[in-house]
Amino acid sequence: MKVSELVKKSRCRREFYHSEKISQKTLIDIIESLRYISSAKNLQPLRYIGSTNENINAEIFSTLKWAGYLKDWDGPKEKERPAAYLVILKDKDICDDSFVLTDAGIAIQTIMLLLADKNLGGCPIAAIDKNRLNKILSVEKHLEILYVIAIGKPKDKVIITDVKDSIKYFRDNNGNHCVPKRSAEELTYKLYG
Ligand SMILES: Cc1cc2nc3c(=O)[nH]c(=O)nc-3n(C[C@H](O)[C@H](O)[C@H](O)COP(=O)(O)O)c2cc1C
Repeated sequence: MKVSELVKKSRCRREFYHSEKISQKTLIDIIESLRYISSAKNLQPLRYIGSTNENINAEIFSTLKWAGYLKDWDGPKEKERPAAYLVILKDKDICDDSFVLTDAGIAIQTIMLLLADKNLGGCPIAAIDKNRLNKILSVEKHLEILYVIAIGKPKDKVIITDVKDSIKYFRDNNGNHCVPKRSAEELTYKLYG
């Protein structure tokens, strides 16, 4: 698949076929690719925790907030929950400046593209009860949780729409998850030729 198609395909997914297991190898392969992402000053301060374990997954799930714009939706039902997670952490001893979030953004997008390439889906999540997740995962003091990526075989239908009145994603009458995107013209501030 061309990279441009993969970018379009790599939508955030929030409902999964929970019974479709994700192997440890899938997470290991993703982390192997993450070795190669760019890093400011080449410091490589990011660390990852992976889980395909049902009990740990349930505990991670309990610390996450889903889809803030969907006020009537509390997140995926039990049978539609992610089958795996990757937690992105920073090592504060290596880097604690704002570049670390740029590194994390590159990591998130790389994970999303790798998942799309494997016909899997994911959702980056920043709305985390980090204190609780720190305890659940016994995270040491020099590490800080930045994001969680929920992973699974996607079940929800996602449609990209043009921005009309609002950028807020919504569910249409058929239950499709609709994500308004600004046009390329709107994104292009200046183009010198
Ligand atoms: C840094 C970051 C943090 C996010 N945090 C959350 C979150 O806490 N909860 C959630 O449901 N979605 C979260 N998302 C997903 C966004 O809501 C999603 O990217 C947006 O709605 C656009 O959808 P798309 O990724 O399919 O284009 C986050 C995405 C990013 C990049």
